[in-house]
Amino acid sequence: MLGAMATSKPPITVAITGAGGQIGYALLFRIAAGDMLGPDQPVRLRLLEIAQGVRAAEGAALELQDCAFALLDGVEVTDSADRAFEGADIGMLVGARPRGPGMERADLLAANAGIFGPQGAAIAAGAASGFRAVIVGNPANTNALIAAAAAEGMPADRFTALTRLDHNRAIGQLAEALGAPAGAIERVAIWGNHSATQFPDVSHATVAGTPVDEALAHAFGGAEAARSWLDEVFIPRVARRGAEIIEVRGSSSVASAANAAIEHVRDERMGTAWTSAGVVSRGEYGVPEGLVCSFPVSSDGDGYRVIEGLALDDRARSRIEASVAELVAERDAVRELGAL
Ligand code: NAD
Ligand code: LMR
Repeated sequence: MLGAMATSKPPITVAITGAGGQIGYALLFRIAAGDMLGPDQPVRLRLLEIAQGVRAAEGAALELQDCAFALLDGVEVTDSADRAFEGADIGMLVGARPRGPGMERADLLAANAGIFGPQGAAIAAGAASGFRAVIVGNPANTNALIAAAAAEGMPADRFTALTRLDHNRAIGQLAEALGAPAGAIERVAIWGNHSATQFPDVSHATVAGTPVDEALAHAFGGAEAARSWLDEVFIPRVARRGAEIIEVRGSSSVASAANAAIEHVRDERMGTAWTSAGVVSRGEYGVPEGLVCSFPVSSDGDGYRVIEGLALDDRARSRIEASVAELVAERDAVRELGAL
C-alpha cells in the first residue's frame, strides 16, 4: 500500500485491469489527479495485472507515490481478480490484447474472450453494491456482454462498453470540417459496435445550436455535397480511425482511449444530457435485448439510459442493422468458444 491523505469524503475504490499496459499508464495519473471523480474526491487504486505485467504496474505505483497526489488514498498491485474487485466501486476493464496492423477488433475475440468471464465472476463475488464497470479491452461490446453474463446476481446494466472514443472522434472530424471548436458540437451519436461497422450519426447533432446538416451544407456548398462527404469521408474515417492510428503510430490509441474512458465514467457518475456508450439493449430501436450496443445515452448520475424517440431514416436504420448483425455474430462466436 502506498499513499495516504485526508478529506471529508470517503474514498472511492477504482479497480483497473491491465494497469501495467499502455492505456493503464495513461489512465492512472489522471484518475489520481481528480480528472475522473472530481477535485475533492479521494480515490483508492487497485491495479490488476497478469504475472508478466505486475512489474510494470508496480513501477507505475512507485511513480504515483512520487507524484504525491493529494487525492490518492492508496495503490495496490495484484494479480488476483478477487482481490482487485473486492469492495471496488468502479471497474475499468482494460487488460486485453490490442490488435496490430491488418487486424480487425473481432480478430481478438478468441484471445480476449477468456479474460472477461472470470473477471465478471470476481466482480459479482466481491464488488461493492453500487459497482459499475466500463469495458475498454477489445472487442469491447462483446467483452462487456461476457462480463455481464458471468456476474451472476448483478444487474447486467452495470457493465458498459467504451464507444466514447468514437463519439469524440466524430466530434473532432466535424470540428475540423466546420472550422468550429469541438466544444460547440453536441448530440453526435455512435450506434452499434465499436468496430468498422459502427454508425457515427450526425442527423441530430448541432454546432453552436445550428443543425450540423445545415452547417455542413453551407460548408460544402450544398446538401448533396455534404451528404457525399458524410458517406464517403466522415463515416469511414471515424469508423476506421483506430486502424489509422495503428498505421500511423505503430500501435493502438492510448491517450485518447484513456481520455475517453475517463469521460465515460465521469459523465455516467456526474450526469450528462447526451453522449454515446455501449449499453445492454432493452430492445430500444429494435436492437435485440441483451446485446451490448452503442446508443446515444444520457445519465442522471445513476447509470446510462438510451435516449429514446429519435427519428431515424432508412439509411440510418440499415447502417445500424448491419452493425447489430455483427454484434449478433460476435455473440454467437463467443458462445461457440464457451465464453458465454
Ligand atoms: P497493452 O498491451 O499495452 O496493455 C494491456 C495490458 O493488459 C498488459 O499489461 C497485459 O499484461 C494486461 N493483461 C492481459 N490480460 C490480462 C488479464 N487477464 N488481467 C489483467 N491484465 C491483463 O494494451 P493497451 O494499448 O493498453 O490496450 C488494452 C486494450 O484496450 C486492447 O484490447 C485494445 O484493443 C483496447 N482498446 C480499446 C479502445 C476502445 O475505445 N474501446 C481504445 C483503445 C484500445
Ligand atoms: C481504437 O479504436 O483506437 C481501439 O479500439 C484500438 C483499435 O484496435 O482500434
